[in-house]
Amino acid sequence: MSNPYYITTPIYYVNDKPHIGHAYTSLACDVMCRFQKLARHDTYFLTGTDEHGQKIEQAAAKNNITPQQLVDRFSQNFKCLAKIFNIEHDDFIRTTEPRHKQAVQLFWQRLQERQAIYLDKYSGWYAVRDEAFYTDKQIETTDKGEKVAIASGAPVEWVEEESYFFRLSDYQERLLQYYQNNPDFIMPSTRRNEVTSFVKSGLKDLSISRTSFSWGVPVPNDDKHIMYVWLDALFNYVSALGYGTDDDANYQRYWPANLHMVGKDIVIFHAVYWPAMLMAAELPLPKRIFAHGWWTNEGQKISKSLGNVIDPLQLLETYGLDQTRYFLMREVSFGQDGDFSHEAMVRRSNSDLANDLGNLCQRSLTMLVKHCDSEIKIGDIGDDVLDNALLERAHNLYQAVYEEMQEQAFHKALATIFAMVSETNRYIDCKAPWVLRKTDLERMQQVLSIIAEIIRRVAILLQPFMPDAAGKILDMLNIAPDARDFTAFDEQLADGHRINPPVIIFPRFEAENAPTE
Ligand code: MSP
Repeated sequence: MSNPYYITTPIYYVNDKPHIGHAYTSLACDVMCRFQKLARHDTYFLTGTDEHGQKIEQAAAKNNITPQQLVDRFSQNFKCLAKIFNIEHDDFIRTTEPRHKQAVQLFWQRLQERQAIYLDKYSGWYAVRDEAFYTDKQIETTDKGEKVAIASGAPVEWVEEESYFFRLSDYQERLLQYYQNNPDFIMPSTRRNEVTSFVKSGLKDLSISRTSFSWGVPVPNDDKHIMYVWLDALFNYVSALGYGTDDDANYQRYWPANLHMVGKDIVIFHAVYWPAMLMAAELPLPKRIFAHGWWTNEGQKISKSLGNVIDPLQLLETYGLDQTRYFLMREVSFGQDGDFSHEAMVRRSNSDLANDLGNLCQRSLTMLVKHCDSEIKIGDIGDDVLDNALLERAHNLYQAVYEEMQEQAFHKALATIFAMVSETNRYIDCKAPWVLRKTDLERMQQVLSIIAEIIRRVAILLQPFMPDAAGKILDMLNIAPDARDFTAFDEQLADGHRINPPVIIFPRFEAENAPTE
């Protein structure tokens, strides 16, 4: 297979239980990756856990366990989350694995050999919760007299210690030039503008080692220092590919990554620090950083202290896997913030899935089975305006969706697919096969067969979003497993093809049954 396509999620901090935000980033990658796979790209999808740093060390101490015990336990939760969300990743990297530690040490040495690192003393603000350094301008004092980072609200502490520094300030102009020459490097454009002004406002050298705690990767030849957790973490994208080992075929094949998917809170790390470090190490840069927005819950910021964390497991139990996947990708413009509400979830699921798509399948395929002996017969398409318009639109659907997916506009891709579904519902109402049954059986079979053909195309395109549900629709249409990728999109159902009896795929929810917490 040609065309490698490498996509990554951020690696998740293991001090927390997985919540909807984590599921969201992974889901977006899964959808993107499945899409590329169906377009016959040679895909590689990486996710994993970020297991070092002061935050983890503190969380372990609080629980009276060692950091290693903590990360072993919690990393498992993220593996489970991926499984229950039907996330099809190829590798799951943990930064405490030897393969990662060795590779990141090589990276450090590579930076050192190129004079990108020097030893000095750091004094400044540090927020353990964000694992980030802040300048005076980036912090404020709260009413209670506590000093916090303005951007995240995380408490900061004053740190003074010997530290290695990365010469980030050398890269200001090169980064700006790079953003300008590669306008699609940071998406969406609001984030690109934000990052550009951050860099324009001036870059200081970055402290990249700590000596006041020990849960991290030791700095080569100076192990009283451990590496700054973000340098350690960012390199996972490369270390997982076998960089610097005898078996680096994946590195050769897949690096640079096509897409690092991240949340908006961590875009600076990915779009400023990471490319600067790669430039310094003379390694190729990823092709795109896409920063998505954040979910709120019924209008409120999601936080442990507010007790409104949305448990992904509960969502799946209440609404079903594919309904949840659909909602998360459809409800909000990808890239912007969005609000989760049970009411919206029920509304989307009922109107788009149960009513529009579900009913279309039910009413057309049931009639085909009952009154046409399950047999497709499109025959010759005459000059009926509606037949031609519908088939023409279906023919163009793939290209439209493909273009939206290239921009990670998942919500638009789904809107385009569901506009096709609505159009097909209008077609069935207009052609009224239940009336044709009494007047023109042949025409009835043709109309129903045209609809089955549209459903086939819709289901092929829905596979990345709702793999199980789309798979069931393709099963009902009796489509062979090897005729489900995008190369089969334009192959029309053959006359004489037999379909299977339809089953109900999307149950309707009664709004009052939705949990009200
Ligand atoms: N460990 C770092 C990433 C290192 S990557 C080299 C980290 N981890 S995290 O667990 O805190 O966050 C992981 C992802 O979850 C981020 O992309 C973040 O934006 C996302 N989300 C966390 N809460 C979220 C919401 N409420 N809504 C949407 N996504 C959010 O940062």
